[in-house]
Amino acid sequence: MTTTTTRTLTSKQIDSVGSLLKDDRQPMGARFRALFTLKNVAGKAAIDHICEALVKDESALLKHECAYCLGQMQDSHAIATLETVLANTSEHPMVRHEAGEALGAIGTDQCLNILLKFQNDPCKDVAETVVLAVNRINHLKGNANGGDGRESSIYSSVDPAPPLEEKEVDSVEIEKLGQILVDEKESLFKRYQAMFTLRNINSDESAMALANGLDCPDSALFRHEIAFVLGQMQKPVTTDKLAEVLAQKTENEMVRHECAEALGAIATDKANNILKDYLSDEARVVRESAIVALDVSDYNNSEQFQLLE
Ligand SMILES: [Fe+2]
Ligand SMILES: [Fe+2]
Repeated sequence: MTTTTTRTLTSKQIDSVGSLLKDDRQPMGARFRALFTLKNVAGKAAIDHICEALVKDESALLKHECAYCLGQMQDSHAIATLETVLANTSEHPMVRHEAGEALGAIGTDQCLNILLKFQNDPCKDVAETVVLAVNRINHLKGNANGGDGRESSIYSSVDPAPPLEEKEVDSVEIEKLGQILVDEKESLFKRYQAMFTLRNINSDESAMALANGLDCPDSALFRHEIAFVLGQMQKPVTTDKLAEVLAQKTENEMVRHECAEALGAIATDKANNILKDYLSDEARVVRESAIVALDVSDYNNSEQFQLLE
């Protein structure tokens, strides 16, 4: 749902986009677009605006997306703010999770040292995120060609785990990968590796194997990541499963949020009609996700999309 093109703006333009991001009277969709523009612009000034929104805003949804973008930007200028957010136990777990994951994505030794302090955090979503992030950094360190973890995928995202190596499993064995994915005896890191391998296969069949992961009861963090990658894949074949999980009011709201975003990314009439039922969901994170998801879907289907590239 975002673009990867870097564009140059004057510092005045950056400040006006930053003001839009931080203005809570503006519609959420417009604020998200401001955030994605700053992410593409990159640099210290853009990061400072994103960090300010991350620390000060009232919307957990906007804040978690700010943290996600800071991770994707992989600039060490954001590390101090991300640490503050990760350490703030009164912050929404989804925001703390995203701050931890972002430190893993930036991946420096400084990030590793911060993360190690939170491996046993009392919030399970945070502790699992941190263990994955530590694994990711150590994995890339042990792999001379590790780079920034971005290059091995057709998707441009920096992922919380790399796909499996070909020697570990034949990458076309969807059934085998699907078994690793849902095997609670495997480490979360290995299951994430199977997840990103299945995503990169990029077929309806691999998407449906991934969708089975939404039934794994052991980890909400895992289920939210499944929904996130289904959003990246944008396969209409997963619509019913995403809708089923979104409808479960007892499901963790981070998971329901990612299901809503994924439906917004799929952006068919059917997916959009499902989302309309959640515009006044009692969970703020879900309600705002539906608003943003419909906005993104609208935007992707409009000519305006070109303007932000
Ligand atoms: Fe996440
Ligand atoms: Fe999210």
